[in-house]
Amino acid sequence: MKVLKESIIKERLSKLLKTRKMGKSIYVFNELDSTQDYANSLPKNESFHGTIVIARKQNIGKGRMGRNWISPEGGLWMSIILIPDFSVDNIIFTQFIGALAVADAIFENTKICCKLMWPNDVLINDKKVCGILIDVHVENESKKIVMGIGLNANIASSLINDYLTSHDLKATTLKEEHGNEVDLLFLVKSILERIEYYYDNFISCGNTSEIIDRWKEKSDMFGKKATVHDGNQMIVGHIFDIDQTGALLMKLSDASIKKITYYDNVTLH
Ligand code: BTN
Repeated sequence: MKVLKESIIKERLSKLLKTRKMGKSIYVFNELDSTQDYANSLPKNESFHGTIVIARKQNIGKGRMGRNWISPEGGLWMSIILIPDFSVDNIIFTQFIGALAVADAIFENTKICCKLMWPNDVLINDKKVCGILIDVHVENESKKIVMGIGLNANIASSLINDYLTSHDLKATTLKEEHGNEVDLLFLVKSILERIEYYYDNFISCGNTSEIIDRWKEKSDMFGKKATVHDGNQMIVGHIFDIDQTGALLMKLSDASIKKITYYDNVTLH
C-alpha cells in the first residue's frame, strides 16, 4: 500500500468494492496492536456482517495456538467480521472459505496458483504465504465470527526468513514469489469479493460439497504421509480425504481410519 492517509484508503477501497456486504464498514489504521483484537472487541452495534479492520502494521499480531504473527508494513493484515446464521458446528467452513478466497485473490492478482493445507494455510512452493485465524463469539442466540487474514504480501523475505510457522512450514512472501510488489487495495478487493461469493453460496444452498470439492482441488495433501499430534500421542498415517463435516481423514498402518478435527496438529512428511 502506498503511504496513503487512512481516510484515503477507506475511500478508495469503498469505490473499488463490488460487494453487497463485505467491506461496507471499514476501519483502517496506520498501526494497531492486532486487527483481530480490535474486531473481537467491537461492540455488537458496530459489528456488522462484512465489517473489516485493516492495519498497515501490527505490533502484537496474533497467530493460531497463541503464537505471534510477524506483521511489518507491506503485509496485508485484516480482520473480517461475519455474523453467521448457521450452526457453530459449521465454523470449519469459514476456514475453508477464507483460504479459498485468498488463493483465488492471489491468482487474480499475480497468476500464481497456491496450494492449501488443512484447514486454512495458503502455500506457494510449499511455503506459507498466508495464515488465517478464526475467533468465534457466541452469546445466547447471537454469534460473531472474526476471520483474521495475515498475508505476507510486499515484505522482504529477510524479515520472516528464519520464521518457521506451525507444522514447521517455512514462510514466504508474495513479493518474493512474484518478483514484484502487488497492489494491496486490489488484493483486499479480490479477497472480499471471493469471500462474499463462497459465503453467500454456502448460506443460500447450505451445501458444503462445493466448498469441499474446491478446497480439495487446491490441496496436494492427499496421498501424503502425515503425523498428527493428539495430546501426548503421535499418530502417523496417510492423508486420503476430507469428509462432509470438513474433518481430515487419515489411513493408519493397521488400515483403520483416523478423523482429524483439531486444527494445527498435522505435520506433512
Ligand atoms: C496463523 O497462525 O496461521 C494465523 C495468522 C493470522 C494473522 C492475522 S493478521 C490479521 C489478524 N490480526 C491478528 O492479530 N492476527 C490475524
